[in-house]
Amino acid sequence: MRVLFFGDVVGRSGLKALSFFLGPLKEETKADFVIVNGENAASDGRGLTYDDYLEIYGAGADCVTLGNHFDRKPDILSHLDEEKGIVRPAGYSEEKRGYPSRAYFVPGHGRIRVSNVMGQGLMDRDYASPYEAIDRILRESDEVVHFVDFHAESTSEKGIFAHYLAGKVSAVVGTHTHVQTSDERILNGHTAFMSDVGMCGDYDGIIGFDAETTVDKFVRGKRLSLRPGSGKTLMANAVLVDIDEHSGAARKIERINRKETL
Ligand SMILES: [Fe+2]
Ligand SMILES: [Fe+2]
Repeated sequence: MRVLFFGDVVGRSGLKALSFFLGPLKEETKADFVIVNGENAASDGRGLTYDDYLEIYGAGADCVTLGNHFDRKPDILSHLDEEKGIVRPAGYSEEKRGYPSRAYFVPGHGRIRVSNVMGQGLMDRDYASPYEAIDRILRESDEVVHFVDFHAESTSEKGIFAHYLAGKVSAVVGTHTHVQTSDERILNGHTAFMSDVGMCGDYDGIIGFDAETTVDKFVRGKRLSLRPGSGKTLMANAVLVDIDEHSGAARKIERINRKETL
């Protein structure tokens, strides 16, 4: 089974990048299943509305994972339970809505489980142990193919989490930093890993946000709200993981980085 995973979609430019790149990349890579991290898809780059989710789904995603911004737009919360395409992160002790892990049937290839887990270091809130969260998910599931989006800030925490899961899941890919790393590898001959997949959005921005506004705010002290960049040049960062659906072992992990000036 070939799984294509796109890094955090940032604002309108991220949605534009996704609708521009997803279809052709799915065809080119012969992907059977597409996962998109949508935690920054809202027009202000924080969270996503239900309409943003529908747009990502309409662009060709089979599953949308999230992150620390997942509950910023209240209208998404009422859809977390029934909308099977959304997987919200594990780690919120107070969170009762939605699921941090869901299984999907891929015609001709069997089942895939997708899980979304939050890291703890340098985060905006206190999150529960990602190790306990993924252990609970593993105890309660039996899918051979299991893809994990680990939403965390530091490469070291991502490495620890991936090594903890080496041999137990098919893939652990990092999201949240919006910068693609070049450390893709297969751990224990089984688990594909990359510290961060990157982002989809404005190529000229700062992690997808408008560079000028961001510099004015942080360097010149102007009281501005950060906003996603306009996206004259669009970028899409993704990763393709080829998984043996009988053993659940990843055969290959391949980094993808595309840009296009409109
Ligand atoms: Fe993000
Ligand atoms: Fe995040």
